[in-house]
Amino acid sequence: MKRLISIYICLAADLQSVLGVDLCATPIHGCKNIPRLLSKDDYSIEFGDQSYQNHSVLLYLEDSALYVGGANSVLKLDMDSRNINKIFPLNTTGQQDCSEGPCENVITVMEKFEDRLFVCGTNGQKPQCWKLSPSVSNQSREIETSCDGTGISPFSSTQNSLSLTADGDLYAAAPLEADGSLLEFRRKAGKRTKVWMHYNWASEPTFIAASWVKQKDDPDNEKIYIFFREKNSDTNPEADPWISRVARVCKVDEGGSKQFLQNIWTSFLKARLICGFPKESLYFNRLHDIFVLEAEDWRDTRVYGLFTSSWNSTAVCIYTIEMIEKIFENSPFKGYNKEIPKPRPGTCTTNSKSLPRDTVAVVKDYPEMTGWVHSLHHAAPFYISSNNYTKIVVDRVQAADNKTYNVLLLSTDTGNIHKVLEAGSEPLIISEIQLSNNSTIHALKLDSKKKKLIVGFSERISVVDLQRCQYNSCAECVLGRDPYCAWTTSGCVPTVPDGIQNIVDGNISVCPSTGIEQAKRTKRDDVSASAVPSTTVHSVPLDVPFYLSCPIDSYHAVYTWRHEDRTSPCLQMHSDCLHLITKMTQKDYGDFECVSTEKDYTKVVKKYQLTELKIPVERNIGTTISIS
Ligand SMILES: *[C@@H]1O[C@H](CO)[C@@H](O)[C@H](O)[C@H]1NC(C)=O
Ligand SMILES: *[C@@H]1O[C@H](CO)[C@@H](O)[C@H](O)[C@H]1NC(C)=O
Ligand SMILES: *[C@@H]1O[C@H](CO)[C@@H](O)[C@H](O)[C@H]1NC(C)=O
Ligand SMILES: *[C@@H]1O[C@H](CO)[C@@H](O)[C@H](O)[C@H]1NC(C)=O
Ligand SMILES: *[C@@H]1O[C@H](CO)[C@@H](O)[C@H](O)[C@H]1NC(C)=O
Ligand SMILES: *[C@@H]1O[C@H](CO)[C@@H](O)[C@H](O)[C@H]1NC(C)=O
Ligand SMILES: *[C@@H]1O[C@H](CO)[C@@H](O)[C@H](O)[C@H]1NC(C)=O
Ligand SMILES: *[C@@H]1O[C@H](CO)[C@@H](O)[C@H](O)[C@H]1NC(C)=O
Repeated sequence: MKRLISIYICLAADLQSVLGVDLCATPIHGCKNIPRLLSKDDYSIEFGDQSYQNHSVLLYLEDSALYVGGANSVLKLDMDSRNINKIFPLNTTGQQDCSEGPCENVITVMEKFEDRLFVCGTNGQKPQCWKLSPSVSNQSREIETSCDGTGISPFSSTQNSLSLTADGDLYAAAPLEADGSLLEFRRKAGKRTKVWMHYNWASEPTFIAASWVKQKDDPDNEKIYIFFREKNSDTNPEADPWISRVARVCKVDEGGSKQFLQNIWTSFLKARLICGFPKESLYFNRLHDIFVLEAEDWRDTRVYGLFTSSWNSTAVCIYTIEMIEKIFENSPFKGYNKEIPKPRPGTCTTNSKSLPRDTVAVVKDYPEMTGWVHSLHHAAPFYISSNNYTKIVVDRVQAADNKTYNVLLLSTDTGNIHKVLEAGSEPLIISEIQLSNNSTIHALKLDSKKKKLIVGFSERISVVDLQRCQYNSCAECVLGRDPYCAWTTSGCVPTVPDGIQNIVDGNISVCPSTGIEQAKRTKRDDVSASAVPSTTVHSVPLDVPFYLSCPIDSYHAVYTWRHEDRTSPCLQMHSDCLHLITKMTQKDYGDFECVSTEKDYTKVVKKYQLTELKIPVERNIGTTISIS
């Protein structure tokens, strides 16, 4: 009964119910679309410092040093010693007229470039870049050189920008004008020619990410992929105002000849990035963040896109570089009906200046592919949620079975991290880690070697240990399906090769048999299983209201109350399951058990015994009600 109610609430929660996807706005037990575990953060380490408050935080990780960009400074945090051990003050330099806006220097770019830490900032609306030598132990020699940062850093931190270093070159997208105009993706510095985009290749773009995908066997064919959203040219009022894109340029592209497209990409192609329900023509059109997970073979490199829709829900869609390349290499060019010239427009060549004019002309006028890039789970996004996620990173985790699993780490606008398992076509939301009550997470950085997630708020930095294994028995450790954890004789611990785990199914039959029998509620003692709880006795008078309470451990389990031979649903109040008795009668005395059921694992969470409290008639007034 309760289960039916909760399923109904889940389904009613969103428009997507029409599509058979249940989203729970609030954590309701037995609902699969919410985090299985909710854990308050009691274990992340924190760095707090006045000097980077109130700014979108930029994080850059190198070895075990974390650089944090804020206002007027770059901080260096030592992850091992947990010390803020170096500060580069980078105040606004030069003569500035700040009457029109903020005069501070908000750091917007941090890259490793020409063997130095290369940092750019808004510099009081006169973008500037600095080359820092972080190895020197005192501050006097920290700044090596500086240069104009226009086109690399935006003029203010609210403007869009991105940067990338690849094979000795610096790429960036930032406006050339203080009003945010002339925003495009360019190669700005390094060993190759400076190259930029043609003005009509993107309409009011917002650049999200750029990524260099290496090809060991064919480096001259390597591409830089650019992910952005732009204004939809379809002005139909029904149409979403935004359209999400993947574009690419060749790393070796030096632009066109002196006569045609000089210093403009000759290899720029773009395609629509689809995330949604193609059959129903329902799309999540607004790309918000991208994470590129490199693979041994470049074709298998995965792209994780975080999108939002016009109806305020978010989705994650997954693509591979192979799927993206198939479109760029085979699709017709949108609006171009003649025979496709040879070499095919977009082909990488080290002498792009001598490409035939026909080929380059198609790039100039028809850079958009007719074909769309669909996601790996073609019919629907991999993961849909009503949470307002802000960032995504993905970790590759080697589990106890020696197989690797991808774990998505998503941050919310309310200060939480969601750990989501990608194993098969269905996501499993392993846990929610609450780091703050209501602050937005602006930045995420993953240290995959150390299994730490660095989380940037505007007022502090937190570091989350991804290998926290808060499971008390083998069955719970396996049901949790957390690839970072496995069961051993010392409990549920960070994964070790011969640990017990079953990531794909969470089937507890892999646990030692005593553990399973324990799970089936036999009385046998076993340290590897959670003990059957002891009984709490309450003496309660007749005719008074009373309630029993049971903590919810797993929100994917269904909780019920057993009394005599009857089972009743539990009434959820926040993180507890209650049994309410409006007025004690004779049949309400006796034993109660709160039972959780998840897959084939049944556990007695709480045991109570209610006995009648006989009250002498003359003292019947003023009895206090004891509450469990
Ligand atoms: C951050 O912003 C708040 C309100 O906007 C302000 O009160 C506070 O002083 C600011 N903190 C810093 C360090 O600038
Ligand atoms: C900084 O280091 C240089 C050489 O490493 C040294 O000559 C200089 O005295 C140092 N400055 C300070 C302020 O410690
Ligand atoms: C989505 O959220 C925005 C505010 O962020 C609001 O203006 C808009 O009405 C919401 N749309 C729906 C369909 O709820
Ligand atoms: C997401 O943001 C929208 C608009 O601001 C808000 O209405 C909605 O409640 C948020 N969702 C969650 C889960 O916080
Ligand atoms: C995993 O690999 C280790 C060595 O790399 C090996 O000892 C172990 O037996 C393997 N475990 C499984 C389940 O294959
Ligand atoms: C959240 O709020 C509660 C109560 O206001 C407070 O005790 C707790 O410390 C807060 N947690 C965080 C992470 O700020
Ligand atoms: C966070 O919550 C507290 C209390 O609930 C409120 O006073 C504060 O303004 C909130 N902060 C933000 C950024 O919403
Ligand atoms: C777990 O595995 C056992 C043995 O392989 C199988 O009999 C059982 O049906 C499985 N349970 C579930 C829930 O898949």
